[in-house]
Amino acid sequence: MCGIVGAVSQRNIVPILIEGLKRLEYRGYDSCGVAVHQAGELRRSRSTSRVAELDTLVAADRVEGFTGIAHTRWATHGAPAVHNAHPHFSHGPGEDAYTARPGRIALVHNGIIENHDELRAELRAKGYVFTSQTDTEVIAHLIDQLYDGDLFDAVKRATLQLKGAYAIAVFCRDEPHRVVGAREGSPLVLGVGTMEGATENFLASDAMALAGVTDQIIYLEEGDVVDLQLGKYWIESAHGAEVRGRYARVERPVRTVQAHTGAAELGPYRHYMQKEIFEQPRAVGDTLSGVESITPELFGDGAYAVFKDIEQVLILACGTSYYAGSTAKYWLESIAKIPTSVEIASEYRYRDSVPHPKTLVVTISQSGETADTIAALKHARALGMPHTLTICNVATSAMVRECKLAYITHAGVEIGVASTKAFTTQLAGLFLLTLALAQVRGHLTDEQEAAHVKAMRHLPVALQAVLALEPQVIAWAEEFARKENALFLGRGLHYPIALEGALKLKEISYIHAEAYPAGELKHGPLALVTAAMPVVTVAPNDTLLEKLKSNLQEVRARGGELFVFADADTHIESEPGIHVIRMPEHYGPLSPILHVVPLQLLAYHTACARGTDVDKPRNLAKSVTVE
Ligand code: AGP
Repeated sequence: MCGIVGAVSQRNIVPILIEGLKRLEYRGYDSCGVAVHQAGELRRSRSTSRVAELDTLVAADRVEGFTGIAHTRWATHGAPAVHNAHPHFSHGPGEDAYTARPGRIALVHNGIIENHDELRAELRAKGYVFTSQTDTEVIAHLIDQLYDGDLFDAVKRATLQLKGAYAIAVFCRDEPHRVVGAREGSPLVLGVGTMEGATENFLASDAMALAGVTDQIIYLEEGDVVDLQLGKYWIESAHGAEVRGRYARVERPVRTVQAHTGAAELGPYRHYMQKEIFEQPRAVGDTLSGVESITPELFGDGAYAVFKDIEQVLILACGTSYYAGSTAKYWLESIAKIPTSVEIASEYRYRDSVPHPKTLVVTISQSGETADTIAALKHARALGMPHTLTICNVATSAMVRECKLAYITHAGVEIGVASTKAFTTQLAGLFLLTLALAQVRGHLTDEQEAAHVKAMRHLPVALQAVLALEPQVIAWAEEFARKENALFLGRGLHYPIALEGALKLKEISYIHAEAYPAGELKHGPLALVTAAMPVVTVAPNDTLLEKLKSNLQEVRARGGELFVFADADTHIESEPGIHVIRMPEHYGPLSPILHVVPLQLLAYHTACARGTDVDKPRNLAKSVTVE
């Protein structure tokens, strides 16, 4: 999703801005742009193509400067078009927006301004000219209107009028060595320059954008406004205690962050998604490494007291992370015997619910920056549920900072928009959480603990065996590539796995796919089953196997074609209309972690056969930082 980079320096910062955008590219975007202070004017280049094209453009236009901002945009308000791409310039009364001479404010923005219509009407009435359909342009004009020689002051006053979520970076034609940033609801970091004798400072929506430039990072907090100048910075907060106007100066700690460069090599793989599917044995192994025995302290100091106090679990997440939570509900209720509910974060925050103070609120997120999940977490806390824990892949993310307890998965940076290794590592973390809660609640004997730990240790090997099924899955994928619809079936804790399989297929191959608990077929979806409908089924050898087999007969009786991932001893055999891929042997409760892998491979190879942009599927972004 949208990305921001900004810099104040004594060297040409355009290469740093472009490199920063490249590091944020994998998140998904549909246009990009850069603006600098050059020869007393604002200069910019914008493109609806890739950042590489923008790089060529800035070189051709000779865009260079010591102060500037850059952006990758994922369209919300207004189509992906050059005139909607950021940076936006102010066009004050009397300034001709369409001439070469731009206004004096340049701005980039992540988030959504909810009162943009109202502000646009007021600004239009004052003579401001709008050249885009974005909500962002109103902020540039508003700052221009409030500007009285001090950009920091104008930004502070402008943000008091904004409703919604934003991270912004702004500079002004009349103050050549200054960039101002502000955040509320969207992440923004300050990078302190580290070059010898450095006087430079940076802004970015993610520390990763500044990898190789500085590892000295300040995570700005909600309500912060930051003033970046040569050799100094100053932060004030709208939520500060020592109020000056409505802002007070605040100190934020500088952290040394080993940000991943994001420039992972593809190696022998065609796409990052394929590479990430094949990294799962390593990723799950790393996530569980060092776990010799089960203890609540794996989730942070004070976890024992929290686990002892709680009476229920509430899981909040979106998309694939939500399906990880949905799988964990089965584990938590059957192994730890703790009532668990799982909520789609974007729904939970807007519905009336009944809070229980003795709830463990668990958020699950690969990125740790998903706006809906962060908002749902804050909503739960505001309802009086203080016990918070996150299962997250990014240790420095807002989610980890917001939660009291955390388990960091070690999937490594996930570049493909379609989540794969993040999902299986989340499941590994959630299984550990289940065991820790079971232990504290007296539902885990030493023998059970030893058996579970042994099975978890075996996971990398078991995953490797599943990955060896790839050639068989490719044969199926060639057939799937010609379909426009697919049904996925599962039962019990494999129903969320069927949901995840369907999400993967629709996300990257654009085939319409739906998932159902197999027992639900006869209540409606069976009407869709014809010879043209492939029905993918996850068939582990569990207590629901015989029920599942009956459901499969219902499909066959209607001419539906079955594609079954079946455990060895299920006695489901290939025959006309039934295709079977035999799963390697594995340990019962951890079966979802293995059964999802062939579904990932099926989606991946089907998408390849259809020739889609696997790592950057249309309309989607990696980090969903807007509501
Ligand atoms: C999955 O393939 C998707 N990219 C998406 O559903 C994702 O899981 C969701 O947006 C949540 O993201 P998070 O884990 O970073 O919070």
